[in-house]
Amino acid sequence: MSLKETEIQAKAALQKSLRESEDLVHFEPRVYGDWRDEFHENGCVVIKNVISPEKAKYYCNKQIEWLYKFDLGFDQKDERTWTAEHLPVNFKGGMYYAYAAPHEKMAWEARMEPAVIEIFEKLWETKELISSFDGLNISLPRRKDLTWTPWPHCDQNQARKGMQAVQGLLNFAPNGPKDGGLVLMKGSAKLFDEYFSQDRESYLHEDAPPPELKYQDLFLFHKDDLKWFEERGCELVKINMDPGDFVLWDSRTIHYAELPQGDQIRHVQYICMTPRRFATEEALELKKQCFENWLGTTHWPHCNIRPSAEKPMRNGKVCPKYRTEPFEKPEITDRLLQLAGVDAYA
Ligand SMILES: [Fe+2]
Repeated sequence: MSLKETEIQAKAALQKSLRESEDLVHFEPRVYGDWRDEFHENGCVVIKNVISPEKAKYYCNKQIEWLYKFDLGFDQKDERTWTAEHLPVNFKGGMYYAYAAPHEKMAWEARMEPAVIEIFEKLWETKELISSFDGLNISLPRRKDLTWTPWPHCDQNQARKGMQAVQGLLNFAPNGPKDGGLVLMKGSAKLFDEYFSQDRESYLHEDAPPPELKYQDLFLFHKDDLKWFEERGCELVKINMDPGDFVLWDSRTIHYAELPQGDQIRHVQYICMTPRRFATEEALELKKQCFENWLGTTHWPHCNIRPSAEKPMRNGKVCPKYRTEPFEKPEITDRLLQLAGVDAYA
């Protein structure tokens, strides 16, 4: 059998196994009287003032301090240093997953903000949650060394049924129309099954990850594909946020991030949590290995645990600043180990 045939067979087997999976959760239509009504209607919602503006500023400062720790010549006051050579290797203009960034103390502190955990407890109606080991985003505005085009995508494989993952980000800096950030196609989650009832090919965007990385829950749309959703009442919306706000979106929702063009640096921590009961023993074991090795994961907390173990590459070589543990390790508490999926709930 050729390599190509093996790949096709593996893809077919994956689709079959996902399609055979049951809906993980079912929400009866009802009125909650809070942000959940908007979330279930639109597939996304902004929740205001989840942390205080002072606390948000603390996280902005921690993120900038983290950039300085790499000692690559980055200077917050000198825009000439806002280029790739002075920054740790990142993705899409500011997403950091390597260098054990998902396990920095500041990342775990943000995940463990009580009001953040409460959002996911309310959403999933359980206190027994596990968290993804997601990255952070520090996007410097007006970067001259970057080219960019929109990359609308969703983060759920078309074969998965219903709402299986919900993504979130905690926003730390003022984020207005010119400050880049999240763009969501409101209403697209509900049309997911209908859209994918026909054969659809993921768009080969110029920045698409190479197929060997096997992002099993990534589907890229061409901008013309968005018309199909707009004709059915969906609307592409740039999400504006104040420091301390949180945005939550169903992983079936089409989305992408814009680069900032104003004066403001964008500061964000990506955070996702799902019920521990969604995870298999194998997934929990893999998650434990990621945690013990300070590796990041995809947005998915309970499955698709694809350790982000690729080394950051700079000019064709492993970045000399490559590191395998955080600069500042989190305080390992019982609660943290539960959220990491390492310890079971009593
Ligand atoms: Fe995404």
